[in-house]
Amino acid sequence: MFLNHGSFGACPRHILELQTELRRQMEAEPVQFLWRRYEERLEPARRAVAGLVGAQARDLVFVTNATTGVNAVLRSLNLRRGDELLTTSHDYNACHNALVETARRAGARVVTARVPFPLRGPDQAIETVLRAVTRRTRLALIDHVTSNTALVLPVARLIRELERRGVETLVDGAHAPGMVPLNLARLAPAYYAANLHKWVCAPKGAAFLWARADRQKSLQPAVISHGNNTPRPGYTGFQDRFDWAGTLDPTAWMCAGAAIEWMGKRLPGGWPAVQQTNHALAVKARRLLCQQLDLAAPCPEQLLGAMATLPLPDRFQGRPKSGKIDAEQLRLYDEFRIEVPFVRLKRPPRRYFRISAQLYNSLADYEYLARALKEVEPQGGP
Ligand SMILES: Cc1ncc(COP(=O)(O)O)c(C=O)c1O
Repeated sequence: MFLNHGSFGACPRHILELQTELRRQMEAEPVQFLWRRYEERLEPARRAVAGLVGAQARDLVFVTNATTGVNAVLRSLNLRRGDELLTTSHDYNACHNALVETARRAGARVVTARVPFPLRGPDQAIETVLRAVTRRTRLALIDHVTSNTALVLPVARLIRELERRGVETLVDGAHAPGMVPLNLARLAPAYYAANLHKWVCAPKGAAFLWARADRQKSLQPAVISHGNNTPRPGYTGFQDRFDWAGTLDPTAWMCAGAAIEWMGKRLPGGWPAVQQTNHALAVKARRLLCQQLDLAAPCPEQLLGAMATLPLPDRFQGRPKSGKIDAEQLRLYDEFRIEVPFVRLKRPPRRYFRISAQLYNSLADYEYLARALKEVEPQGGP
């Protein structure tokens, strides 16, 4: 039972078959595929992604994952000693590490706004972030949908308020495309990095970076290749630099349009119906788990997308971790065949689990999870 679409997505068989066919063509005629006629397959995919996320195709480039997009932006910043990079306590560890390394090299500082969890509502998140802004804040990294805590943060209001204070925003939208409605042209942060291999269900390695027109000139990819001195007619310098990151398998990018089309046809109402259906299931599943396991919901339903994080029942609390993955999480998989991530938050120290809801899930999956969580024995001494 797969209750962890959020971590790595799941790619439909139909799209994987298309990718296999594209790979066959690439290996049969690599120069045609990767060089001479590269753009022919890339452009329709770029246009389809731009359409889904409310962007102009010229402002959007493919990258292999959200981490790469975030790294590209952070490494392109021209920081001065003493500058501050703002983030929240809900950021994703890999991106936090990128912030720390960027700051270390420049003699800058990472400032973490401690957004509480449990969270009362969007205003509490906004107030906490804005309170951490100082004269020295250069950029804020804001997750659109947080990873461990599964909160849909009020990014539109945050971007506006941060801009008013002279702070540019890098949105980490790793989970957002396909999970929540997106209109990047309207949202208009400085930068938006996101995955397509999660909720759009494209093959692994499909992600994008969007940059506002006024920020594109100074952006360099995480991997610098030919683009800096190899312009193509009809392309922006931003696209030239990012469209070729050295030889790699671009078929995941080329399948993005087909994934958008295929997923959009699963329900008569198209993508809006997919997003509403997954959200409604996540809400119902969370209510069910709260009721069955006597848990308090840590945030209002309005902050949920297609995932929800809940505290583990009390008998699981206070038990130290001994390996990479919590022993009870492993048992849920080994004994019950349930794939669901466990999460440890530090302040205050508390253990949680996160559910995802995708079209292949139903309420019965979460009933089964509730039963399994009642049965599985906590491991390690409290
Ligand atoms: C908020 C957030 N940012 C970044 C990432 C990293 O995604 P990737 O490993 O595809 O770069 C994730 C992955 O789960 C995430 O949840």
